[in-house]
Amino acid sequence: MALDFTKYIASVRDYPEEGIVFRDISPLMADGQAYKEAIGQLVDYAKDKDVDMVVGPEARGFIVGCPIAYELGIGFAPARKEGKLPRETVKATYDLEYGQSALYLHKDAIKPGQKVIVTDDLLATGGTIGATIKLVEELGGIVVGTAFIIELKDLHGRDKIEGYDIFSLMEY
Ligand code: PRP
Ligand code: ADE
Repeated sequence: MALDFTKYIASVRDYPEEGIVFRDISPLMADGQAYKEAIGQLVDYAKDKDVDMVVGPEARGFIVGCPIAYELGIGFAPARKEGKLPRETVKATYDLEYGQSALYLHKDAIKPGQKVIVTDDLLATGGTIGATIKLVEELGGIVVGTAFIIELKDLHGRDKIEGYDIFSLMEY
């Protein structure tokens, strides 16, 4: 029987700020079967797309993106926050549900024409994934899909990445 993934998400009120309900994926990751099943479904989504690379933003995008890339036998490129990548980078700034930030990719992380899946744990306002897509495209990559464990519908992240294919395992 299919797992109900929502059972493995901890909802924490007023974290990290008043008014935010934080959706914490750590119980899902802590359960081997649930983590494997969740990643398996994201892998199935990516399999249909003939992907060359997976890109995920720091930090929770690594938790999702690395096992997908590993399962598919393709590469993973980390989109990192300020001051973390040692070589030449491209940069994109974005707004968060709480705060503002910037992401970077190494200039040689993606080769022109490579097909890329962009993944993260959660789609909220879409700022993070939008910036990650911008970085991939600046390097000449083709974003063939985006995959998430959770989508927060009320924050309309979808609108920010209109035109891209979006797959998520659950919605709040
Ligand atoms: C969280 C989450 C997503 C992003 C979603 O990351 O993991 O990356 O916010 O929000 P958005 O759709 O409004 O951009 P956060 O920036 O908190 O960093 P972390 O992964 O390092 O905890
Ligand atoms: N990132 C942005 N908004 C979030 C939320 N509500 N829960 C967990 N991570 C988030």
